[in-house]
Amino acid sequence: MKKEDLQALLNDMSLEEKIGQLIQIPGFLIEGGSVITGPALEMGFDEETYYNAGATLSIFTFERIREIQDQFMARQPHHIPLLFMGDIINGYRSIYPIPLGQGCSFDPALSRELAAMSARESAAEGLHVTFSPMVDLVRDARWGRVMESTGEDTYLNSCFAKAAVEGYQGKDIADAGSVAACVKHFAGYGAPEAGRDYNVVELSDRTLKDDYLPPYKAAVDAGVEMVMTSFNTLNRIPASGNTEYMRTLLRDTWGFHGMLISDWAAINELELQGVADDMAASANMAIHAGVDMDMCTPVYALSLRKLVKEGKVPEALIDESCMRVLELKNRLGLFEDPYHHAHQTKAEQVVLCDEHRALCLKAAEESVVLLKNKRDILPLKKEGQNIAFIGPYADAHRLYGVWSMLGREEDTVSVKEGIEEIGQSNTCTFAKGCRMLDPKFPLTGFHGMEQEEETDDEELLLDAMMKAKRADVVVMLLGEHPAQSGEGGSRGDIRIPKPQRKLLKEISKVNSNIVTVLFHGRPLDIRGVDRRSKAVMAAWFPGIEGGRAIARLLFGESEPSGKLAMSFPYSVGQVPVYYDHFATGRPFNGDITNRFQSRYQDIPNDPMYPFGHGLTYTTFDYVSVELSSDTMTKETPITVSVRIKNIGNRKGTEVVQMYIRDLKGSVVRPVKKLKGFERVTLEQGEEKTVTFRIDHSMLAFTRADMTFDAEPGTFYVYVGGSSAVDKHGEFTLQA
Ligand code: GLC
Repeated sequence: MKKEDLQALLNDMSLEEKIGQLIQIPGFLIEGGSVITGPALEMGFDEETYYNAGATLSIFTFERIREIQDQFMARQPHHIPLLFMGDIINGYRSIYPIPLGQGCSFDPALSRELAAMSARESAAEGLHVTFSPMVDLVRDARWGRVMESTGEDTYLNSCFAKAAVEGYQGKDIADAGSVAACVKHFAGYGAPEAGRDYNVVELSDRTLKDDYLPPYKAAVDAGVEMVMTSFNTLNRIPASGNTEYMRTLLRDTWGFHGMLISDWAAINELELQGVADDMAASANMAIHAGVDMDMCTPVYALSLRKLVKEGKVPEALIDESCMRVLELKNRLGLFEDPYHHAHQTKAEQVVLCDEHRALCLKAAEESVVLLKNKRDILPLKKEGQNIAFIGPYADAHRLYGVWSMLGREEDTVSVKEGIEEIGQSNTCTFAKGCRMLDPKFPLTGFHGMEQEEETDDEELLLDAMMKAKRADVVVMLLGEHPAQSGEGGSRGDIRIPKPQRKLLKEISKVNSNIVTVLFHGRPLDIRGVDRRSKAVMAAWFPGIEGGRAIARLLFGESEPSGKLAMSFPYSVGQVPVYYDHFATGRPFNGDITNRFQSRYQDIPNDPMYPFGHGLTYTTFDYVSVELSSDTMTKETPITVSVRIKNIGNRKGTEVVQMYIRDLKGSVVRPVKKLKGFERVTLEQGEEKTVTFRIDHSMLAFTRADMTFDAEPGTFYVYVGGSSAVDKHGEFTLQA
């Protein structure tokens, strides 16, 4: 529809209709069918509001979407189509690794392909919008939603944010295989105090600007169609009522013209957070802050009309928000085709097709991080061994995280099934060994997931012990339950559940050749696991091809290449722990006799495994690191070239990382900051030069006077396979 026609439509709409476009109806109300009575009415959605709604959420399959679209358009006075939205976070039915696992691939290009695949499947089934990517920077493993982020680094998250938006939206969101992306949660949601979900966020302006905001900006610059507000406060004002960030920064400074939707009930919660007297005040605050759509509550529906009539909200604000909703529908082509091509796409030919499954396998393999591999116990030999695969994940089919709404166990390859496919002539045995969860900590809130079937724990243990005794090697397959991470999944104890810790301890008494593969949504406290394992693999929740990927990696059919996108803390006592920390005035120099340094009495400062860490099955030698010059100016960038050689006995992939340290600034500067990375695959004996460019913009930060710029001085450059790299070059930025 032409802009002028859209304007004519807006002009012809009643105030009630325009307000209707600002409302997202929860899908469960529509699925429940109870329009006039029941939950809908209890929530305050009367029939007119209901059919005037602009969007809905979590309605799946095209036939259902078409039915609802037809029903609503018929009742809508101007027959305006609904937007169908959903949380398709890491795949529609072809479920791939959780975003934190994708972050460990250091492969944004692959994530762009994954997002495009997810868009093809979502669009084929009639969805218009996905509430992804989540780009919240995370440093606190207690927070359950770290699984949805690509990790603790600003630059890495920005690369993944851009890639995801490009993948989901393609060239044009009106195209058949595209959906509109929605970057979330704006802003700073990944830093809830004490790692407790929905808690306040207390960040300095500089930390927010330099560390947390750039990934959202990367999504906006990539053309993301929607932004979602976060539950938290920013400078003590909740995001959904925060004009400074939602209008001044997001729209006026960053130039975002798309649609801003609240998070679920976040507008309504302004009252609970104590910044609004009542629902009407919440609506007033949010619409003035520029929040265009109210997610799944009737706050706008019940308040805006009266606020306009009372002159508290200019109708122009309603028009502005309504136009943004109409423009998104128009860019999707919904006025011409309310089904967005889904009626012409054969979903059954797209969803879970072989190409998509192969992509899930590739992503699962790249997401796994080999943390430890003593005496090269891995890869496993292919013959002559007795190998026991023990643990609740030995034959589990739920290998995907909680934000895999449409994931199905029957679509998933378990580790056992993956092992059975591998061509090897070992004797392989399998045992569950113990229950997944500690009965003392039952999970709540995820229907159908929280109850474990009753188990005979003694029998399980006995079976596992017997198999372990006979084995040359034991592969333990342990981890969190998927519902122990994700939204509302904060934990104060970030170890694997107690029954599994006990199992590992008992098994280690009868066999010391232990490899442990972990399934998890967060970095864990793995001191006990690490102590008892010769090798440890962090598999995150790898998705429907996870079992096949783990089997191939264990037997060397493919090589591990992942690098940690988020530090594994030594213990929860260290959290938040992250690589790009500050030196402090008393940096710990290792001398524990000196009490008065920044250190703990009982645990180390360093994490168990740092950001950027990950082993391969070969060895890479960083033969040389050379700077093109030891001085640079604003106008003359420099390059750093690193010669890397595969000196091991098999092919491998190294993620070469480049970090920069600004030795002095008008404000304190982090000890390192990732500024470049590149995945390099080398055959045995092969070598290659990787070159990174360093320009002035990469050295800029929010200075003492709050301007954003670089400052002349000395800089270190580190290049290596982990943030723990020590060797560095040096250059000067001249004034
Ligand atoms: C949730 C989440 C958000 C999600 C939305 C819709 O509360 O915070 O990430 O997209 O509601 O399900």
